[in-house]
Amino acid sequence: MSEPFDILHVERVHPTALHELRRRVLRSDNPDISVADPRDEEDTAVHFAGFLGDRLVVSASFYPSTPPMNPQLATYQLRYMATDFDVQGCGYGAVVLEVAEAELRGLGAQQLWANGRGTALGFYRATGWSTVPGSEHLSPETQLPHKVIFKIL
Ligand SMILES: CC(C)(COP(=O)(O)OP(=O)(O)OC[C@H]1O[C@@H](n2cnc3c(N)ncnc32)[C@H](O)[C@@H]1OP(=O)(O)O)[C@@H](O)C(=O)NCCC(=O)NCCS
Repeated sequence: MSEPFDILHVERVHPTALHELRRRVLRSDNPDISVADPRDEEDTAVHFAGFLGDRLVVSASFYPSTPPMNPQLATYQLRYMATDFDVQGCGYGAVVLEVAEAELRGLGAQQLWANGRGTALGFYRATGWSTVPGSEHLSPETQLPHKVIFKIL
């Protein structure tokens, strides 16, 4: 078990490096469900991993996207935000988002948006995201409740 004071380092990675964590944390480790986004391999997609030593413990992927809000802003969609079970709540997800936001700002991003899982909305609020009123929906992939969320960078 890692301790909260372990140092996380954040790197850009190839998306396939994230599949195992995406599947385990976000898809109940179901081997039959796809954990790839059709945009994963595009040059403009940006994938981040948080590592404790050699162990990959956080994933976050960003895709240029026309957003459902503020369409005049250069926007990326966040997908597959996940922290491994035993190190959730240690601040690592927030660190990865902070690094990602800085890099994406450098690429011209002005806004992020996502479909935020109901159980994760507290995390997004704590990291500066806003919820779109009336945007409650079930994810077609997981059937879990989500809301549309965004953050101006
Ligand atoms: C949601 C998730 C990505 C958060 O990552 P994390 O590394 O555990 O979050 P952090 O430890 O960096 O938390 C940062 C802040 O958010 C808060 N937070 C984290 N998860 C929370 C939750 N589920 N509900 C309420 N607050 C939460 C923390 O308390 C912390 O607040 P603080 O800054 O006031 O101390 C992670 O818990 C996870 O992978 N959950 C399961 C998969 C999932 O739901 N992913 C999101 C899909 S949209």
